[in-house]
Amino acid sequence: MTDSQNPSPNQMHLAAFVTAGPGRPGGWRYPGSEPGWLSASYYQHIGRVLEQGKFDLMFFADILSVPDRLGGSMDSQLRYGALGSLRLDPTPVLSSIATVTEHLGLAATVSTSYLEPFPVARSFATVDHLSDGRAAWNVVTSFQDSEARNFGSDRHIDRDKRYDRADEFLEVACKLWDSWEDDALVMDPSVPLFADPDRVHPIDHKGEWFDVRGPLNVSRPPQGYPVIIQAGASPKGRDFAARWSDVIFCSHASLDSAREFYRDIKDRATRHGRRPEDVKILPMATPIVGPTTEAAREAERRLADLVPPLAGLSTLAYHLDIDLSTLPLDEPLPDVDVPGVQGHYKEVVEMTRREGLTLRELGKRYGGRTEGAFIGTAAEVADSMEQWFTEGACDGFTVGAVHTPGAFEDFVRQVVPELQRRGVFRRDYEGRTLRDNLGLDRPRAGTWRDRRYGGNVPR
Ligand SMILES: Cc1cc2nc3c(=O)[nH]c(=O)nc-3n(C[C@H](O)[C@H](O)[C@H](O)COP(=O)(O)O)c2cc1C
Repeated sequence: MTDSQNPSPNQMHLAAFVTAGPGRPGGWRYPGSEPGWLSASYYQHIGRVLEQGKFDLMFFADILSVPDRLGGSMDSQLRYGALGSLRLDPTPVLSSIATVTEHLGLAATVSTSYLEPFPVARSFATVDHLSDGRAAWNVVTSFQDSEARNFGSDRHIDRDKRYDRADEFLEVACKLWDSWEDDALVMDPSVPLFADPDRVHPIDHKGEWFDVRGPLNVSRPPQGYPVIIQAGASPKGRDFAARWSDVIFCSHASLDSAREFYRDIKDRATRHGRRPEDVKILPMATPIVGPTTEAAREAERRLADLVPPLAGLSTLAYHLDIDLSTLPLDEPLPDVDVPGVQGHYKEVVEMTRREGLTLRELGKRYGGRTEGAFIGTAAEVADSMEQWFTEGACDGFTVGAVHTPGAFEDFVRQVVPELQRRGVFRRDYEGRTLRDNLGLDRPRAGTWRDRRYGGNVPR
């Protein structure tokens, strides 16, 4: 850690879930929501608000296609401004936020299934330098044929294979970030010695998926490696996340399933020889805060009214990778085999059973995507967050906004002071880099590249 205090283990960490686009079919229609998705100042404003609220990081989700999984059509995604309707490339967006913030971590989603390790490692090393050590990478393996079709293939890679590729991708990225020793950039004009050739090393990686000579043409990032985020939900995905991640995102329909996931991931991390406290688990919480419980519930109803069922169903079809257009709308979602995101399936099955929802109602709910536990007054939202945190379900939260920037402003103005008063959230940043604020050590060169093998390195 650099010139910093350790964050308290009794305090939660907060990430903000943002899309570089409208993201929610009800949110962009909500009164007061601002349509600034194409301007840097819009994201910079959200970044400033989150930094005032002492958030650890701002995270941008991403998709590499306009989803077409509902009846083979993009219509409902585009027409209703749903999750995948419009997405700016998140990595340049991070750089624009870096210029107006000092402490906020900056995370972008990049897929290991379609890109190559060299440009990705380079891009995150660049953001880490430009932000003085605040970059984070949400490593996704993608799950849609529609994404494959933008990269010269009809079918997405199978789950097992895509995680194998992701393992090798991360191994190569770590080698590239290590390819400049920490003191390789000398910049002494009197010698002259700009970079010491003896301290910059080709990596000569030859593997199943990638052949990369290296070195990187960017010096070692201030954090060593950017913070690694992952959200694997399948057994293979959970293992991958437990091996590689500093931070894990997840979404749960109940405290019980969040607890089960938390225990499982910490056990897996321990089995891979890691300290469980080095993996921060941050489930989604999408609060709606009102002056009274009834006012918050009313805002929830108004938002739900703005979500056409097909908008939510087209996103659910995309997440599950199932064409839901063939199923009856006025009956519950039947049991199905899910090739897509199993975590989201578990969540909607739990919701459907608990509330007796038809598919049409589920579409509305899914398009709105709030978690019922976090709707109410600031004190009630803080109660739920504190309960999840103290009862072993999480190390903090990934906070979503039902409309932007207003819902983040409400949260920072009302819920953050409540959490601070209770002593479960920081009043100020502890350190300089994102790793400092998360309480994570800066990785020493060479110490991560074997994580792929989970402690059983082939020799
Ligand atoms: C909070 C959260 C955010 C996610 N963001 C993205 C994203 O931006 N892009 C993406 O392709 N997948 C995203 N995912 C999906 C995961 O990366 C992963 O594919 C999914 O959880 C399925 O895991 P599995 O492949 O192990 O089944 C997200 C998941 C969660 C829970």
